[in-house]
Amino acid sequence: MTTKRVAVIGAGISGLVSVKCCNDEGLIPVCFEQGDEIAGLWNYHDELRDGEGAALYESMITNTSRDMTCFSDFPFPKETSPFMRHERVLEYYRSYADSFGLHQFIALNTKVVKVEPAQHYRKTGQWILHLKKEGQPVKQELFDAVMCCTGVCTTPYTPDFDGLGDFKGLILHSNKFRRGPDFRGKIVVVVGASNSAGDIAAEISRFAKQVYISMRDGTWLLQRMGSGAPLDMTRNRRIYEQLPESVMNMISQKIVLSQVNHDKLGLKSNRPLHRHVVMINDDIANRIFCGAVKCKTAIKQLTRNSVEFVDGTVVDDVDAVVCATGYNLTFPYIDNDIIADGARNIELYFRVFPPRLNKPTLAVIGTVRVSGPAGPVSELQARWATRVFKGECKLPDEETMMTEVKTRKRNFFEKFGKHGVGVSSIPYQDQIAEFIGAKPNFWKLLLTDPKLAYAVMFEPCYPATYRLTGPGVWDKARETIMNARECDRSRTQSYLQLMSLLVVLFCVCFVVVQRV
Ligand SMILES: Cc1cc2nc3c(=O)[nH]c(=O)nc-3n(C[C@H](O)[C@H](O)[C@H](O)COP(=O)(O)OP(=O)(O)OC[C@H]3O[C@@H](n4cnc5c(N)ncnc54)[C@H](O)[C@@H]3O)c2cc1C
Ligand SMILES: *[C@@H]1O[C@H](CO)[C@@H](O)[C@H](O)[C@H]1NC(C)=O
Repeated sequence: MTTKRVAVIGAGISGLVSVKCCNDEGLIPVCFEQGDEIAGLWNYHDELRDGEGAALYESMITNTSRDMTCFSDFPFPKETSPFMRHERVLEYYRSYADSFGLHQFIALNTKVVKVEPAQHYRKTGQWILHLKKEGQPVKQELFDAVMCCTGVCTTPYTPDFDGLGDFKGLILHSNKFRRGPDFRGKIVVVVGASNSAGDIAAEISRFAKQVYISMRDGTWLLQRMGSGAPLDMTRNRRIYEQLPESVMNMISQKIVLSQVNHDKLGLKSNRPLHRHVVMINDDIANRIFCGAVKCKTAIKQLTRNSVEFVDGTVVDDVDAVVCATGYNLTFPYIDNDIIADGARNIELYFRVFPPRLNKPTLAVIGTVRVSGPAGPVSELQARWATRVFKGECKLPDEETMMTEVKTRKRNFFEKFGKHGVGVSSIPYQDQIAEFIGAKPNFWKLLLTDPKLAYAVMFEPCYPATYRLTGPGVWDKARETIMNARECDRSRTQSYLQLMSLLVVLFCVCFVVVQRV
């Protein structure tokens, strides 16, 4: 059999890791990137560029920590701070591409304008890509498989406020926001309850005359180092997944509320933490207490120069409304009925494979939103996809896949309503890892390497956890996990872990007693 050629669309971090996974599996990747650089949205530009969805603002700092954000076999250098400015992240992804020799597989300045099944698709599973290079006619090329890595932040979404047309001030989507001083002396309303809204409101408030933040239903404000260790390290531990969701939610809420008084800040939400978007921000609380930022309800309507909120209050002389209201997920280059447009209509088995194709030769990487870093999830998806392309992993039949798709959709909406935030990282990652045989076996580890078993169950779920076993094992995985845990010591956590352990023990005893 000839080696399969795989088209990777996009050279953001999902694309980069897909190229690497193809190489690891002996497939030949050919990556097409419309822009002139790798690493996608981690490239900062002063202005929004053509076709660009999300973009960074100048002061942007990661909301996920170093040891959780890295790819599984490529840790950050030890001296990197736990959270970092965007430049540092870009540097990391560049050095990832250099280290694994990925550049030779990437064609820059090449836009994929169309992806369609090849003529004998039902037999071969092949795809035709229509490629557009600046100043050249569209070219077609045949591939054995396709990985769509074009990102989630593709099409900015701005709410259609009443009176939008009458408003004479500036309306700006957050992807065009770059820096606070642009709003010196202005009155600004920032709309949104998530990370970007918080960052932008806090930043603008240092320069503006007054900033208002408009939220439909408050938010849950989390601090990067709230419990003394990075947030994602505190949250993403396997042990917590053993607890009932309601117990976990109760504990998390208690911790969050002990760190930040949501009531006093006017941020209180009616939805529980695990069913609401979160705002990771270390400044906004202070900015609110200083009066530089004021909290408001949802916008009712705009008039010529004022904004009216649903609680009846009005702010006059508004210079700008900044909408940090997110993005719609679109795949303009592929037929709607293959993936389905819009985050709500997406039909993908475990958010990766379109269930209705009769050959599993197309995968979508990096569209699932999780409660942790994005990179490691894209990586697992890419490992799974390439194993499937190679024929080492099988997908179930269409019906089984459709059932999963429907259940996922239903759970998602029950949980989040229409403002979906994302799924819990660990169960999702573990499931994908199980498909490829890379899920660590706690009980086996307990017998062979108790220290590691402890780390795997009770400590943060580091990406390297998925390189301990199965295809793609990495001989430094254990060492990487053990090194990372050195940075992670805090009392809240030991306490939390003990509590979780007790609850688990209690549940086990309960079950045992019931059986007897
Ligand atoms: C402001 C902001 C802050 C964030 N902070 C964090 C964080 O701290 N931690 C974290 O884990 N995640 C964070 N994220 C999430 C972020 O989405 C992921 O970290 C990650 O960058 C997504 O990578 P990606 O490759 O999937 O998509 P992208 O980075 O969007 O890359 C997609 C690539 O595909 C290319 N492309 C698109 N269409 C085509 C086409 N038709 N043909 C050819 N090429 C195409 C684009 O040019 C782009 O290079 C943040 C997101 C934003 C917007
Ligand atoms: C970090 O911020 C980005 C942009 O706002 C968001 O898409 C992502 O979900 C955030 N990550 C977490 C863990 O909250």
